[in-house]
Amino acid sequence: MIKIHILTLFPAMFHGFLSESIPFIAQEKGKLSVNLINIRDFSEDKHRKVDDYPYGGGAGLVMKPEPIAGAIESVLKNIQPDNECSEKTTESIIKSSEAKIPIIYFTPQGRLLNQQTIRNYLITPEIIIVCGHYKEIDQRIRDKYITDEISIGDYVLSGGELPAMVFTDAIARLLDDVISDLESALTDSHENGLLGYPCYTRPYEFQGMKVPDVLVSGHHKEIEKWCKEKSMELTAKIRPELLGKKMENG
Ligand code: ADE
Repeated sequence: MIKIHILTLFPAMFHGFLSESIPFIAQEKGKLSVNLINIRDFSEDKHRKVDDYPYGGGAGLVMKPEPIAGAIESVLKNIQPDNECSEKTTESIIKSSEAKIPIIYFTPQGRLLNQQTIRNYLITPEIIIVCGHYKEIDQRIRDKYITDEISIGDYVLSGGELPAMVFTDAIARLLDDVISDLESALTDSHENGLLGYPCYTRPYEFQGMKVPDVLVSGHHKEIEKWCKEKSMELTAKIRPELLGKKMENG
């Protein structure tokens, strides 16, 4: 079971995502639990304000540090490994559990997310995700709490909510028994460092286009060879840099 705590100003954005398809199945099967926390609930301001103008000027609003810190600490308090040490400071909780509880911040400044990164998180029972919105979050939150800064691509989104969903979905589908056909997950694009091969289903002929002969031949060895070749061909054409990496890593 993996528990993902998502700290956001927009929890409702996750409702549809969590109630359909693989993320829903993962929760139903008790493999995934998602705890949505509204950062606004931790605002100390009477108007529940969560953002303010940046010091030094410039466009855009910055998310204030206190509500985010309050939200993170509320989660850490409940998941510190030895709950009986209630006098522990948050700092010591973070330090002692640092290796076990990643606190992820999604940002275009982070390192690029890939399938291996996702796999690395499968062994962490609890994950905290901080979703920024507006221009940025206060740097002091990043300095003190954030353990991992991750980007989902070289483009800019309006917040960390979509990256948090991308991450949660990629985790959910790899959890034991969530996808019935394990083979299917293992032959996906990127699982072996290559893009996936083309897939076909019935009908055999569609708008004059037939399924490649080898796939209906029944020769498993030949089919496997064809899949590998197509994977290589496609990767060489679309993402040649992946082939280079695969050669380096063996
Ligand atoms: N927040 C805004 N844009 C982002 C991106 N590309 N990746 C991760 N988090 C983001």
